[in-house]
Amino acid sequence: MAHLPFSHLEPTLHHLRAKYGPIFTLYVGSRPVVFIMDGDLAHRSLMQRSEIFADRPRPLATSDLNTNLHSINNTSYGSVWRLLRRNLVSGVVNTCKAIPVDGVAVDYYYKILRELNEEDIVSFCSEFLDASIWPACAALEWIMARLVKHQDIQQKLKKEIRSVVGDKKGLVDVEELQRMPYLKAVIFEALRRHSPAHFLIPHRVKEDVMIMADHHEYLIPKGAVVNYLVTSVGLDASVWEEPLEFRPKRFMPGGEGEEVDVNCGKRERSR
Ligand code: HEM
Repeated sequence: MAHLPFSHLEPTLHHLRAKYGPIFTLYVGSRPVVFIMDGDLAHRSLMQRSEIFADRPRPLATSDLNTNLHSINNTSYGSVWRLLRRNLVSGVVNTCKAIPVDGVAVDYYYKILRELNEEDIVSFCSEFLDASIWPACAALEWIMARLVKHQDIQQKLKKEIRSVVGDKKGLVDVEELQRMPYLKAVIFEALRRHSPAHFLIPHRVKEDVMIMADHHEYLIPKGAVVNYLVTSVGLDASVWEEPLEFRPKRFMPGGEGEEVDVNCGKRERSR
């Protein structure tokens, strides 16, 4: 994942949210930059209108390896982005559920792959290493810290893991993981409370789009950059009861986060 901008602006953004509501525009030079600060608006834009919101702005600087337009996070939404993303999802992230591709798709896949030169491949590998390591490490560190602090949660988690894998040594498989809902709840709660990324990577709208917030319709003009403040979604007191508390049971049946799930590939499926 690329370096995330605006982190120093966070307190100001919270202040602006209190004054102007969950969506507002700041100008960076003459460039309008929209900020979206709540989960409902994030869901309605990124999930329900993903074909408009999935694009990325062109990077401003060319100071590191990850600026080639053939990396996933700054490729425009389209065939190259889909190829890179599918490659990552089916080949690396989700090896147990590889996306089935027919003969026609395979030909297309190789045709685009042949178009990638050495520089593209270096850029892609660099992005992959950067995007995969630090957020996962940060999340794991927070989880371990929380398990040390909350011994009751640690005991409950150990009990669940033992009940599924017993004394088995070695790797836990995916089918076993699916029988550990409390483990999933602990991970989700850590990501909510201690999100490794405070902002998403900036998005860009492909066309003019109207969006409803607080009973008003707002126009986001074609080409505008849209930023999402993840911490503001995770700590929203109108959604999460006592949001600063670490409570995995929010994500268990009956909790306010019961419906939350990770849907890797929403951008992929929306095409
Ligand atoms: C706890 C672990 C992780 C967290 C919290 C995390 C968080 C994020 C966030 C917030 C974004 C920006 C999404 C957006 O702007 O729409 C992102 C993008 C991305 N992440 Fe992760 N990530 C994690 C693990 C990984 C791993 C393990 C990989 C690779 C194996 C990975 C690869 C990527 C890539 C390639 C993108 C760009 C996707 C795109 O532009 O379509 N991430 N991640």
